[in-house]
Amino acid sequence: MNKKIIIANWKMNSSFDEAQIWIENLSQKLIGKNVQTLPEIVLCPPSIMIDYIDGLLIENEFEEIEKMHSDVEQIEEKELEKLIASLRLIKLGGQDCHHNDKGAFTGEISAKMLKDCGGWYVILGHSERRQHCKETDQIIAQKISAAVKENLVPILCVGESKKQREQGVYKDFIINQIENSLPQNLLIKRLIVAYEPIWSIGSGVTPTIAEIEEIADLIKQELQQRKNISEFQILYGGSVNSENSGEILNTKNINGLLVGGASLDDREFFKIICS
Ligand code: PGA
Repeated sequence: MNKKIIIANWKMNSSFDEAQIWIENLSQKLIGKNVQTLPEIVLCPPSIMIDYIDGLLIENEFEEIEKMHSDVEQIEEKELEKLIASLRLIKLGGQDCHHNDKGAFTGEISAKMLKDCGGWYVILGHSERRQHCKETDQIIAQKISAAVKENLVPILCVGESKKQREQGVYKDFIINQIENSLPQNLLIKRLIVAYEPIWSIGSGVTPTIAEIEEIADLIKQELQQRKNISEFQILYGGSVNSENSGEILNTKNINGLLVGGASLDDREFFKIICS
């Protein structure tokens, strides 16, 4: 897969009104752009907003279809769904999902719920969840299985702390994270792995290009050995903005970016998309 992928991770930010403006502004900017040259764009808002944003996007897509077909009423439902999916420029994803299908798990959402409300992707194992929600590699592996069963594309986050980098144990740590967070025997059609050094997230500090390249190469070697992964992409995340995005995107073996803070501003995010 040659297309780069740019993912917005809003974390626990934005209101419904702000989300609507963001979608309007970005959609406006994307009109007339050559879809072939655009990267794949994914928005991971708070899960409670996914259904709402999906509805906004469907409205836009419906308008496009009305321009192309004189009688939309005549199009069969399945065909209409396909048309809508083919027009989708901003895809949606969750920031997490539970590893069980259902049950007494207050406050949680399942992979199926995410899928049903318009999610195509799901971020799993983000360092903030590993830290604040005590998620282990083993739980993350179960979440990946749950996501894959629902045909969601898992975006697995890995990355070392400042201390691990300084102690020189960062490579072993990342390899371990990957080994333990990926289910052994499950066939994964498409996997995204985001290298997100914890010390870079929200700090304004990014690794050097050589440092990113070193880890991208490491992750690639690790994933290539796995017969159960058909296709994978390696992303970088951590203090990405429109000033550094172009250079990072050109790094060997880096296929895209996971953008936190800078994705909240649609103008800044659009610049990153165009970089
Ligand atoms: P940041 O966050 O871009 O704000 O550093 C990235 C992330 O946590 O995914």
